[in-house]
Amino acid sequence: MNNATNSLHGKVVLVTGGARGLGLEIVRQLAAQGAHVIVGARDKARADAVVSELHGEGAAGTALELDVTCEDDRAAAYFAIEKAHGKLDVLINNAGILLDSVNGGTPAARQPSIAFPSVVRETFEANFFAPVFLTQTLLPLIRKSEAGRIVNVSSIRGSLAHLSDPTSPVYPIRALGYDTSKAALNAFTILIAEELRGTPIKVNAIHPGWLRTAMGGEQADMGVEDGARMALHYASLDADGPTGGFFFLDQRLPW
Ligand SMILES: NC(=O)c1ccc[n+]([C@@H]2O[C@H](COP(=O)([O-])OP(=O)(O)OC[C@H]3O[C@@H](n4cnc5c(N)ncnc54)[C@H](OP(=O)(O)O)[C@@H]3O)[C@@H](O)[C@H]2O)c1
Repeated sequence: MNNATNSLHGKVVLVTGGARGLGLEIVRQLAAQGAHVIVGARDKARADAVVSELHGEGAAGTALELDVTCEDDRAAAYFAIEKAHGKLDVLINNAGILLDSVNGGTPAARQPSIAFPSVVRETFEANFFAPVFLTQTLLPLIRKSEAGRIVNVSSIRGSLAHLSDPTSPVYPIRALGYDTSKAALNAFTILIAEELRGTPIKVNAIHPGWLRTAMGGEQADMGVEDGARMALHYASLDADGPTGGFFFLDQRLPW
C-alpha cells in the first residue's frame, strides 16, 4: 500500500471502541509505532487495562470513557483532548454494532420487511449518528493538526453496488440496520471529505475485511492484524494520498 509515509510517531490518535476487537488491535499497532493513543471505550476499566498494557511496554496512551452515542461523553472527549494535547491528529471511528444478526457472520434473522424498528434505530445511533456527531465535535481539534486524518471503519456491507449485485458475496444476507447505517456512513465520508478538500485533512472509509472478532465470528477469513494495518495505512496517508474514498486494502471499493 502506497502513500503512507506520514509517520504516526508522536501523533495524537483517538480510537473509538478501542478496548476490544479490531479497535484494540488498532490501538496496539498505533502504540507500537510511537503514537499517543487515546483509548476510547464505554467501559473505562477496560480502557484503563489496555493503557496499563501499553505503559508496560513503554508506549504512550490515555484511557477515555467514551460511549460514542452519548452527547455528554463526546463533549467531554473534546475538553479532555483539548486540555491534554490542544489538537487531535487522527480520529479512527471504529466503534460499531451489528444487531440484525444474532450470531455474527450468519444470515440476518429477519428480512428487511420485518426488521425490528428498535434494531434499525439503535444501529443508526451507534454506526451513523455517533461517528458523524463525534467528528463534528472533534473537528476543531483536528483542524489544529498539520495533517489531520479521519478513518471511518465502514463495511463492504455498506456498498450499494455490492448489495444490489447478485454475484457479490454480501448479496444473500440482508441486514437492514447494519447495511443502511454503513451506507449512510459512507455518504457522510464523501460529504465531509469534499467539504474539507483543500485543507490538510483527509477523510476515508475502509472495509477492514471479514475479521475474526465477536462481530465477525470465528469463521471469518481474516485476523484483526490485517484489518488494523489497513486502518493505520489510511491514518498515515501522506499529503498526496486520497480523500473521500472507500477502500479495502489499497483497492477502491464501489459505493
Ligand atoms: N468484524 C468484521 O468482520 C467487520 C467487517 C466489516 C466492518 N467491521 C467494522 O469494524 C468495526 C469494529 O468491529 P469489530 O469486529 O471489532 O466488532 P466487535 O468485536 O463487536 O467490537 C465492537 C467495538 O465497538 C465498541 N462499541 C460498540 N458500541 C459502542 C458505543 N456506543 N460506544 C463506544 N464503543 C462502542 C465495542 O465496545 P464495548 O466493549 O463497549 O461493547 C467494541 O470495542 C465496526 O465498526 C464494524 O462494523 C467489522
